[in-house]
Amino acid sequence: MELIIVKDYAALSQRAANLIQAQLTWNPQSVLGLATGSTPVGMYDALVKMYQDKAIDFSQVTTFNLDEYLGLGQDNPQSYYAFMHEHLFKHINVNKEKIHIPNGLSEDIQSECLAYEKSIQLHGGIDLQVLGIGHNGHIGFNEPNVEFEAKTHVVSLDQETIEANKRFFDSIEDVPKKAISMGIKTIMKSKRIVLLASGEGKADIIAKLVKDEISPNVPASVLHLHENVVIIVDEAAASKL
Ligand code: GLP
Repeated sequence: MELIIVKDYAALSQRAANLIQAQLTWNPQSVLGLATGSTPVGMYDALVKMYQDKAIDFSQVTTFNLDEYLGLGQDNPQSYYAFMHEHLFKHINVNKEKIHIPNGLSEDIQSECLAYEKSIQLHGGIDLQVLGIGHNGHIGFNEPNVEFEAKTHVVSLDQETIEANKRFFDSIEDVPKKAISMGIKTIMKSKRIVLLASGEGKADIIAKLVKDEISPNVPASVLHLHENVVIIVDEAAASKL
């Protein structure tokens, strides 16, 4: 596990965007695993800027998002589908047919999960997976007491996660209680993983992740078992290390 500490959020965002740019220079047909949440927004902004400056080309890229809320359709502004289009996809030359986000409105959720997992494998697996981290150590929507062997599946959100995510909704009642998420096994199969964390609010969980032993109580701790993980944190998130 490589730990990179940078000064602030701007530096973190640029550093993460540079990793993606390098990945696409190395292999323009890369399969990218993408994340939502506030943390990667700056990285997406930096990628859009690179695209406008003609420094990056997404035309051959395939993307798979980590998760989607159950019950929210693509036209719901709070869906992760809408989030990704707003922050990244509508600004770049990604082929819309190569974008994959679980369908939160699927009538057969089990088949949706199986098909999502299979599609990742059919595309040769994820080359570079971007992750944020929840205050409770979740990655994707894999909450504490996680099943390390799980593939893409339906998850129930912890109350803490519902509280944390209510800022994106009109009221806490509007926050979906369930989601479809890649499982830990899906994430661990990625060839390379970059986890981002910014701000003082993430300092406790980053200290726990880096110092403590692997435990299902801290889902992100499983990353210690992956051989190609980069953690990029700003000084605030690193303040308890
Ligand atoms: C959400 C997402 C995660 C994300 C996490 C942290 O629940 N499902 O993928 O990493 O929250 O979000 P933020 O970056 O806003 O702190």
